[in-house]
Amino acid sequence: MNFITSVTNNADTHQLSSCVLSIEPECFVTDTTAVIFALAVAACQTIPKEIKIEGRTYQTDEWMNTPSSILSAIPRRLHLQPDHPLTITRKLIESRFPSYKTHNDLFPIVTTGQNFDSLGFPLDHTGRSRTDTYYLNKETVLRTHTSAHQADTFRNNESEGYLISADVYRRDAIDRSHYPVFHQMEGARTWDRRQAEKEGKTLAEVIWDDVVRIPKHDIAVEDPNPTFHAERNPLQATHSPEEAEAIAAHLKRSLEDMVVTIFNAARSATETNSASENEPLQVRWVEAYFPFTSPSWELEVFWQGDWLEVLGSGIVSQPILANASVPNRIGWAFGIGLERIAMLLYSIPDIRLFWSKDARFLSQFSEEKPIRRFVPFSKYPACFKDVSFWLRSSSNAAGGAGSAASPTSSATPATTFSTPVPPAAPLPPSFHENDVMEIAREVCGNLVEDVRLTDEFVHPKTGRRSMCYRINYRSLERTLTNEETNELHEKLRGLLVQRLGVELR
Ligand code: PHE
Repeated sequence: MNFITSVTNNADTHQLSSCVLSIEPECFVTDTTAVIFALAVAACQTIPKEIKIEGRTYQTDEWMNTPSSILSAIPRRLHLQPDHPLTITRKLIESRFPSYKTHNDLFPIVTTGQNFDSLGFPLDHTGRSRTDTYYLNKETVLRTHTSAHQADTFRNNESEGYLISADVYRRDAIDRSHYPVFHQMEGARTWDRRQAEKEGKTLAEVIWDDVVRIPKHDIAVEDPNPTFHAERNPLQATHSPEEAEAIAAHLKRSLEDMVVTIFNAARSATETNSASENEPLQVRWVEAYFPFTSPSWELEVFWQGDWLEVLGSGIVSQPILANASVPNRIGWAFGIGLERIAMLLYSIPDIRLFWSKDARFLSQFSEEKPIRRFVPFSKYPACFKDVSFWLRSSSNAAGGAGSAASPTSSATPATTFSTPVPPAAPLPPSFHENDVMEIAREVCGNLVEDVRLTDEFVHPKTGRRSMCYRINYRSLERTLTNEETNELHEKLRGLLVQRLGVELR
């Protein structure tokens, strides 16, 4: 809440409220201002008519579902803070792509056109729903991934390779590896077909020449699948098999080089004398699906006993490049989550720590010094409390554990994009687990570590559905008092009733 500087009454409003919310980057204000702000917002039914963020004004409408706590994260720009672990991670990755142009300050509020349409997301993709994505209005969202800038960056055509690092926003579960704001890095490398012609070579030959220049590594890579497969991972109609093979090789060698660098740094940081330390790094390519690449792959790394998915990638869908007025370019793109990489580089146990301003956290990281394992300054006690409720009889539960699809997963690949017409209005209210998460975040801020569905059943006679969630309260910085957690829990119960219309049991 530290960045909110002004709340002004606005006489000229629509029925939603009578407030204008304003968030500015440079001014730090006291917590008292933040409290006054929160009260003012509560008094005006929480939905301001107009929102001003860093000098840009947005009109809200019935799609608006972004709480002020999320908007107040925008000015933090953790990936640019000196000596922050996300900055160090970003720079480590950037160092493996020295010729790629970096874009690190792209504004997080984008159109649904940028975030979804330009990338060929089908209209019924779950990523577009208000349960998964933060909207300001029907056409304006907080970007859910850095791919939102792909089409624009291709259109600007400033470099053959680029890297975009940025904050991204998703309504999601609450646990130690999920936070509604996190950071991604997107990279892409494209070639111009006409350049190859000028050099009297095929495009595939030009790309293979570039593959040779990528630093070599000596780790074992499992890559059992063919580069493309008609059903599972199709070659695009406008690409020749030779071109796809060359682009795939460039993509895979480049990203393997990056991952080997990261994991070698992580292994020297963990300093264990265990046998695993000396075992060679194992990585593998698996087939994947994204609406905006084909064929597509994920790279997994064997880390502390498990295969860990570290990045998504693929050959850029040609319609994206054609629509971005660079039809002669062809190439690959990847996306990687920076928190996940930083957590294993430093052994950081909880994603909330990245937002900490506590010197006991921040002082442990330095851009100058070699990477060292994070030493937790303390683990304060947790306190869990359950809440059970009946859903409204008309509600059906969606988004239960494990069922919420990521904004990038979908069933059918898009090869040509038409201009989609967005759905007419928000869906009628039905229960979605992400709404419970959002209320828990609103009430508890960073004092909630984990929210889990522990029980669910349907009453045999009435057909009503009952849910039980376990809320794990824990501060990263101090011990919570009983009164404090009781108060939070009571407030949470009240808001569940008020917002979701559930009946407490
Ligand atoms: N945007 C994808 C995600 O958020 C990652 C990705 C980027 C995949 C670029 C392919 C190409 O998961």
